[in-house]
Amino acid sequence: MYVRSLWAERFRNLRRLELEPHPRFTVLYGDNGQGKTNILEALYLLATLRSFRTSPPGAVDDLIQMGERKATVGAWVERLGVERCLRVEMSREGPGRKQVQIDGKTARSGAFFGGFNAVLFCPDDLRLPKGPPAQRRRFLDRAVWNTRPTYLREVQAYERILRSRNALLRGEGRTGCSSQMLEVYDEQLAAAGAVLVGRRVAYLQDLAGGFHAAFARVSRSGLSAEVRYHASVPLPVEQGETAVQQIAAQLRQRLLDDRRRDLQRGFTHSGPHADDLEFFLGGQPAAAFASQGQLRALVLALKIAEICHLHTVLGDPPVLLLDDVSSELDPRRNAYLFEFLQEISCQGFITTTSPRYILLDAAERRDFQVHAGEATLANHVL
Ligand SMILES: Nc1ncnc2c1ncn2[C@@H]1O[C@H](COP(=O)(O)OP(=O)(O)OP(=O)(O)O)[C@@H](O)[C@H]1O
Ligand SMILES: [Mg+2]
Repeated sequence: MYVRSLWAERFRNLRRLELEPHPRFTVLYGDNGQGKTNILEALYLLATLRSFRTSPPGAVDDLIQMGERKATVGAWVERLGVERCLRVEMSREGPGRKQVQIDGKTARSGAFFGGFNAVLFCPDDLRLPKGPPAQRRRFLDRAVWNTRPTYLREVQAYERILRSRNALLRGEGRTGCSSQMLEVYDEQLAAAGAVLVGRRVAYLQDLAGGFHAAFARVSRSGLSAEVRYHASVPLPVEQGETAVQQIAAQLRQRLLDDRRRDLQRGFTHSGPHADDLEFFLGGQPAAAFASQGQLRALVLALKIAEICHLHTVLGDPPVLLLDDVSSELDPRRNAYLFEFLQEISCQGFITTTSPRYILLDAAERRDFQVHAGEATLANHVL
């Protein structure tokens, strides 16, 4: 898939942006704070209706230019030969604070997903193995969601039940916390949670071979790379529907076992919201043993595996958004990243403070200088 044109109005510091990207690589360069990441954020929003920087990710207020009430982003995106016009309007007021349109017609968000897939790679990702568990869960959930749009609804269903159960544990309801009510929530939470765990584990199993192979190429060290899922409950060896039922039964039991502790503290201790990922290098936990360079190589390999896997699943390569990654990689790994980018047939948007990090031929790229929220086609000689 590829973005033919992009525009943004009153979106962050992008007052009025119009950009015609290159079918292969679009390099956005400029000084700090000029709006490079904002452009990637606009693209990411068009793919996911979320931001990777706001909290919560669905919030719109920070995205609208200060002093303005509305913002718009839009793009013509081609996917498997079909071109569609995607548009998202954000508003500070009103019930529908984010309105989406496909080809000029208002659409539900469900219809929006799946038409435009983007994979973001940013410096924060490079800290994934040692970062907080929530960051790893977010990485995994985004990756699964890209391969299956309905996963978002499954996550939201789980989170809704979790919030209700936590409120009940704290006795926030009118009737306080009855054990009957808790049983109902436990049943629902275990069922919804098992679906998430099943999807995450299946995704990681699908990714394992590609991750191992990508790491071998990135590091040329002969060490094996692995990523394991740490669930709150023991997982069955098999995958599929019966496995999900088994996980649900395990989760139900765990909720029951934890009940006293949950009631004392007023929150649910176990479940996919508390699970984690762990990286291994040569069989050893990477967060404790691997060097900085090895940790970065692990993440680079993971992102490459994610992109390749998504390409296979979609039958079409996703659009890549690389936010200032080169400055964080050593020259050898940076060179490898560009080798990989040139091999795959993706369109990529790459931000940098210095175009000299960007090891791509002039024929394959279009460079824009980003200054004070405006992008100007560059005429520099590379
Ligand atoms: N809602 C908003 N309204 C107006 N300006 C905003 C808004 N949100 C952010 N900005 C401005 O956008 C700029 C930051 O843009 P961005 O993060 O894209 O910078 P950048 O070019 O990626 O910089 P760096 O190289 O440091 O990563 C800041 O100057 C910030 O003040
Ligand atoms: Mg930036």
